[in-house]
Amino acid sequence: MALFSKKAAPIRTEVDFSRLPRHIAVIMDGNGRWAKRRGLPRTAGPAAGAEPARTIATYCKDIGIDYLTVYAFSTENWKRPKEEVGAIMGLLKKYLLEAIGQMERDKVKMEFFGDLSPLTPELRGLCERTREISRHYDGCQVNVCLNYGGRDELLRAARAYAQDCLEGRADPNHLTAERFGGYLFSRDIPDPDLVIRPSGELRLSNFLLWQSAYAEFYFTDVLWPDFSKEELNRAIVSYQSRDRRFGGV
Ligand code: IPE
Ligand code: IPE
Ligand code: MG
Repeated sequence: MALFSKKAAPIRTEVDFSRLPRHIAVIMDGNGRWAKRRGLPRTAGPAAGAEPARTIATYCKDIGIDYLTVYAFSTENWKRPKEEVGAIMGLLKKYLLEAIGQMERDKVKMEFFGDLSPLTPELRGLCERTREISRHYDGCQVNVCLNYGGRDELLRAARAYAQDCLEGRADPNHLTAERFGGYLFSRDIPDPDLVIRPSGELRLSNFLLWQSAYAEFYFTDVLWPDFSKEELNRAIVSYQSRDRRFGGV
């Protein structure tokens, strides 16, 4: 009987490297809980999150992902206790110094999304240096979201756009989504295809609000410090099983 003879398509368990997402975005969450579960203070969390950040960036470059955007510190994370913010900033400094040391080997291009002005001059300088050194690399581009918030990004874009209108450089009658996208930190790069959030939370927490309009989501209970290449592979396999319709049929 034709009705039953059709074989169901096999469920893929391995990544199809010919159909990778072009842009993966990750909310690196769960560092505090990871530390707490080990009887450590929350301030031990950021250091534990640095290793998977490096591993995943290198892996993305090796398999040919064009863009990786990681959420490192949100506009709301300043609400945290001073010691915790200090631990995160200290870790960022260490991470960037190490990244600078390995850049020639890794050839990962680094960019930063967010308002860097409240950071210390030293940290800002390190961001600038990593951006400058890696400017010509053409492997994976890693965008580090630092003091980043989706709403803040949209407000900045709206302000800059309004200013351009006032000064005659833009005409509101000709505003398109594409033009508006040019005012965002993510200008020049495609929207994320896959947004991953570890740690069991099922929310965006102000991440890439505009850019995630048609992203596929992958949530896992794994905490960020335990996130591995295997977990990223699982996320990609899941992504590859989706039917992306973009509103069509
Ligand atoms: C993410 O881990 C790191 C930052 C927000 C900077 P958390 O510190 O939020 O970890 P949890 O969610 O409290 O476990
Ligand atoms: C989102 O995580 C920000 C980063 C991972 C950098 P949060 O831990 O700040 O988000 P909420 O508070 O759980 O929504
Ligand atoms: Mg968190």
